[in-house]
Amino acid sequence: MPADRPIATRSGIDAARIAELREAEAAVFRKARPKSEARIGNGIEGFFGGVPMHWMNDWPTPFPILVESAKSARITDIDGNALDDFCLGDTGSMFGHSPPPVARAIRRQAARGLTYMLPSEDALGLGRLLEAHFGLPFWQIATTATDANRFALRVARAVTGRDTILVFNGCYHGAADETMVRLRDGKPINRPGLAGEFRDLTVRTKIVEFNDIPALEAALADKDVACVITEPVLTNSCMVLPEQGFHATLRDLTRKAGTLLLIDETHTISSGPGGYTKAFGLEPDLFVLGKPVAGGVPASVWGMSGAVADRYAAYNRTKEPGYSGMGTTLSANPLQFATMKATLEEVMTEENYAHMTRLAMRLDAGLTAVIDRFGLPWHVARVGARVEFICAPGPLKNGDEAESAHAPELEAAIHVALVNRGALIAPFHNMMLVSPATKARQVDRLISAFADVAAKISV
Ligand SMILES: Cc1ncc(COP(=O)(O)O)c(C=O)c1O
Repeated sequence: MPADRPIATRSGIDAARIAELREAEAAVFRKARPKSEARIGNGIEGFFGGVPMHWMNDWPTPFPILVESAKSARITDIDGNALDDFCLGDTGSMFGHSPPPVARAIRRQAARGLTYMLPSEDALGLGRLLEAHFGLPFWQIATTATDANRFALRVARAVTGRDTILVFNGCYHGAADETMVRLRDGKPINRPGLAGEFRDLTVRTKIVEFNDIPALEAALADKDVACVITEPVLTNSCMVLPEQGFHATLRDLTRKAGTLLLIDETHTISSGPGGYTKAFGLEPDLFVLGKPVAGGVPASVWGMSGAVADRYAAYNRTKEPGYSGMGTTLSANPLQFATMKATLEEVMTEENYAHMTRLAMRLDAGLTAVIDRFGLPWHVARVGARVEFICAPGPLKNGDEAESAHAPELEAAIHVALVNRGALIAPFHNMMLVSPATKARQVDRLISAFADVAAKISV
């Protein structure tokens, strides 16, 4: 690395080199996609911002990849460029694109109707199947993890009679408004960037740093918190793993304070067929899982312990009649039943997870070796089949550290460079998922591509 250039970030890479890489890789991306650029280079007509969903503009490529098809762990654009897909729809396709049992279930159900607000036979064993995977006895089905979180938080407030919740700094639980709080210089604020938010969300939401037991204890001391909502591992900034004993203490403190514990497994389902909860013996009162639970068909689940279910039933007997504020029309439809059953029974198997974890460990080791070889001050974090390279030293302790570990320009340049070398990783925080369909050779190609990019920026 030339000594005369300024170090732009904690990543150890200077800003000028990052800019050079980004520009060069953008040109390569464009050259390989003439048809795509003609069709989508100026956005898609009729959509605000040129895309059907604003996140599609957040990819660091010069324009979004215009997908022709995706199968297993490969995605192909309309110019015929095929990529090894490690983004996998940011977890929605964590089990690969159109897993065969899910595709079969879709075909079967397509002939029988798609939504009727009534159960089908596939629903009959589903509750017990969810219990067998995740341990909680009572379930409801929703369509997004956002909604599942919203509904579970409603139940938590209803049964405790408390109106406040607690989140950890750096969390993301979907578009559930009450979780949109951040710490800035140690003070709670509404998450920056929220559109149209006129409430002070910090009034009803307490926030402390992950892994900070004294702060958690203090925040729960007034016994006014209905529920702590957390991912077992913070995955929505740079990855933060729980410190030894954190979860046991969290459970202990919440029980003492009469506070419920909601574990959101939407991303940490990468840990195993029972999520991080089963793998590490967590004991949540409420449980949420969305994204891949129906193999890519929009669906989510939220579960309750027996004790919470009893309290909720008692609450319902006394509450004023009327809409609970929970439920959306297309939720719990027969397509969800069919595809969720196929996913839980045939896709989320021990065998598939063994494959995913083995290859994720191979990816972790390979990326770490590259980082070491080039002497980069970076690290790799992993939770089961979910791997991240973080362009800053680690391990990270909390949301604040995770935020400052970000190197947005560098991450963007690497992302496009990897695409140009045949690998698609998530557009946010260098995240990579290994699916049951992912092959060892795809992992090895990603490691080589990463080494090639590291060589370019480390010179
Ligand atoms: C932990 C967690 N919970 C909930 C959600 C929201 O999921 P959805 O976008 O399906 O509502 C996300 C999305 O990334 C998430 O990471």
